[in-house]
Amino acid sequence: MLPSGFNGMKAVVYDRYGPPEVLRVAQVERPVPMEDEVLVRIHATTVNRTDCATRGANRRSGRGISLISRLVSGVRRPRQPILGNELAGVVDAIGTAVTEFAVGDQVFGSTGFRFGAHAEYTCIRESARIAHMPAGTSFEQATAVPDGALNALWCLRGAGLRSGQRVLVYGASGSIGTAGVQLAAYLGADVTAVCSTKNLELVRSLGAGRVIDYTKEDFTKNGETYDVIFDAVGKHSFRRCRGSLKPGGSYLPTDGLENLVRALWLSRSEDKKVVFRLPPRYTKKDLLLLKELIEAGKYRAVIDRAYPLEEVVEATRYVETEQKTGNVVLTVSGA
Ligand SMILES: NC(=O)c1ccc[n+]([C@@H]2O[C@H](COP(=O)([O-])OP(=O)(O)OC[C@H]3O[C@@H](n4cnc5c(N)ncnc54)[C@H](OP(=O)(O)O)[C@@H]3O)[C@@H](O)[C@H]2O)c1
Repeated sequence: MLPSGFNGMKAVVYDRYGPPEVLRVAQVERPVPMEDEVLVRIHATTVNRTDCATRGANRRSGRGISLISRLVSGVRRPRQPILGNELAGVVDAIGTAVTEFAVGDQVFGSTGFRFGAHAEYTCIRESARIAHMPAGTSFEQATAVPDGALNALWCLRGAGLRSGQRVLVYGASGSIGTAGVQLAAYLGADVTAVCSTKNLELVRSLGAGRVIDYTKEDFTKNGETYDVIFDAVGKHSFRRCRGSLKPGGSYLPTDGLENLVRALWLSRSEDKKVVFRLPPRYTKKDLLLLKELIEAGKYRAVIDRAYPLEEVVEATRYVETEQKTGNVVLTVSGA
């Protein structure tokens, strides 16, 4: 029985690290905005690789990463019981110091490692990564924008990608990959995208000048070289890519402790570099840039499937196949 005066909401919670089945739908206390926060009634959120990695305490990435993951999220059990770091919804209440947003505004954004978006409501600081929704987009489209795109921008900027440079995006059909192709093209690069047969037309439509089907051709053996190789899906390696980098070229990983070590070591010893900057620092300015690009028809989030919030376990199992195309959305009913 709930205590009297309990102002509840539906949320997906987890009390221990483990497989997707540790997730369950529950009634929890609805958050109240602090003076600099907005309370958002969430219409759509996502299940992404950050949710999955955090829920599993990054066990798949080895003991070292798992320990770091637990130090960040809670050593014995998760400190934040609600996952979800992307959202789109409507402002339901505002703190007394909020000036940028009003009740009823449609907004989208990223709560980052604060999570809390797998719920009917969450609070977010107005100065954080939250912005008015791009005109003409649905909640489902808007919620699928931040994580992949902010990550891709962070990686591409780290390499100082310039107009006219040649970039190869490996894993071009994933969440970060579909964003990486579009953003590299927006930055003026000549983009080659690598994916499997079924996704070739999609990545071409996102702005790739050339596409390579990795089931038929090994890009490291065709003699082509690139200024930047962006491993957007964590399935390649600097060692295998090195010969395909131009002198002074950069390999951008999205995963792997060994890449962090290489990033530090190679910057002193080699002309070809691994650029891996952790932790990523996503900004509100970049979210506003994405809004502009969407409104100008220069960016779109690719959505594979949408599930109702109550089917979060099925959605998570699908994300963990590592075969999703773009993003997986959760819709929040009653919103
Ligand atoms: N640890 C964390 O907290 C965290 C958070 C976010 C992201 N990341 C990392 O960022 C990377 C990308 O995440 P994401 O969400 O963008 O990925 P994703 O969406 O799950 O990637 C799925 C795509 O990868 C492609 N793929 C699968 N196996 C492949 C292979 N062997 N070679 C090339 N492509 C392959 C599949 O397309 P095809 O059928 O076309 O191959 C599929 O479309 C991952 O390494 C992830 O671990 C880590």
